[in-house]
Amino acid sequence: MEFSVCRTPIQVSDAAFEIVVAQLRKKPSSVLLLSSGSTPLGLYKRLVAAHRDQDLDFSKAVLIGLDEYLGLDAHYESSFHYFFNHELLSRVNVSRKNVFLFNPHTTDPKKECEKMAVILRHHRPDLAILGIGRNGHIAFNEPGGALNSKCRVVDVSHATRLDNARFFGSLDAVPRQAMTLGIFDILYAHRVLLMATGAEKAHAVHAALDESVSVNCPASALQRHDDTVVLCDAWAASKTRYPPAGPVLGGIEIANVFSLPRGKRVVFLSSRLSDVSLSAGALAQSLARKNTVVSVVAEHAQSFERSVIESQAKSQARMLGFKCLFVRSKAASKKDLLGDEKKWRYLLSTLSPDIVVVPNRFSTDSTDRWVRKVGLAYATTKKRCAVWSFETDRGLFEAKACDLVFEFGTDMLLSKIVAVRRLSHLRHLRLDVSAKSLAVFRKLA
Ligand code: GLP
Repeated sequence: MEFSVCRTPIQVSDAAFEIVVAQLRKKPSSVLLLSSGSTPLGLYKRLVAAHRDQDLDFSKAVLIGLDEYLGLDAHYESSFHYFFNHELLSRVNVSRKNVFLFNPHTTDPKKECEKMAVILRHHRPDLAILGIGRNGHIAFNEPGGALNSKCRVVDVSHATRLDNARFFGSLDAVPRQAMTLGIFDILYAHRVLLMATGAEKAHAVHAALDESVSVNCPASALQRHDDTVVLCDAWAASKTRYPPAGPVLGGIEIANVFSLPRGKRVVFLSSRLSDVSLSAGALAQSLARKNTVVSVVAEHAQSFERSVIESQAKSQARMLGFKCLFVRSKAASKKDLLGDEKKWRYLLSTLSPDIVVVPNRFSTDSTDRWVRKVGLAYATTKKRCAVWSFETDRGLFEAKACDLVFEFGTDMLLSKIVAVRRLSHLRHLRLDVSAKSLAVFRKLA
């Protein structure tokens, strides 16, 4: 199973579009199984546009609808028949003889299903395009149904009727039965493409991908198919155990909180009390949720009001969810710092981090450069210790100097600001310079 996480639903549609277009270009007579619902709408829009503007050709393609409600007479516009025609079929050059949809007006649904089974026998699908229900259903294969099911009439679950009531105006109007291709029919496709967007799908995606195959989550049966592509946005992927790969912007990969590691020991090294919370607070806070995070600060013995500043720094760290330790140096001079090296080495070997986070290499500050050196030296002695770096007002990343950055939500930034306000000496910091560094990335965007 191939799993890709995109940042937004738009990018999910873009990625799905690439897959469908590649399929049609490789084999113009491809047989596609089509899903209804809001998730594939972006994909269908792109296909229509590509047909209009780039001559994407559907003349030989065979398009088959996955499912259909039963008993819709008064609500034809809520039928999948209407949906497929309206969103895709009437807007591309597909030949009507190559379109196979369940008839929503059928008086003999069983016969309609038999008809569809024969069609499938003659047209083995090349690509099944699927969405997923909140309860893990695919097409209308609801939880509890057999995982080797074939085309048949099914009861629509209460949960799915509730979810789909938005297309009907009321729950009462949502049909209780439907016709659907079975799980077996879907797995019969050479390739399966599953799309999921939005946090409400996170639980279903997690059950489908991470848990064992079970009738409780029909989509989990896709694990048995050896060519399944799952495309999710960051929200739908948020409960999975797979680390999502982020999109790339100007050569820099943009990762989000879901890409962060779990279960690691992370140590931030800094030369100022406020650096970790101010400059890397969102990263430290996010990491602290699933990892053990400690921030180690080089402290100068003659620091003004040291005890006040230390207690402020500790409370800041507590708010953000990590621990703060201090290495008190006798003096600020380089010579004395070198004398402290032993202390740092000992502390680091006790903390035994999997990741050390140090000020970046552009810092103009000698203490920054010194703690960076200590971190790098430790990482080279320990197998598999990663080194990350953060930006401060004394060391801005130069454009293109890094290959991955983390992006955080406003909630993170707000709690960081609250934590930072606890430090009374912040009026001395050059916040304007930090703001400028953000602008560098905005320009890249
Ligand atoms: C319906 C369809 C499914 C679809 C699901 C999710 O129940 N039968 O094929 O995947 O809805 O729809 P949406 O993408 O709107 O969340």
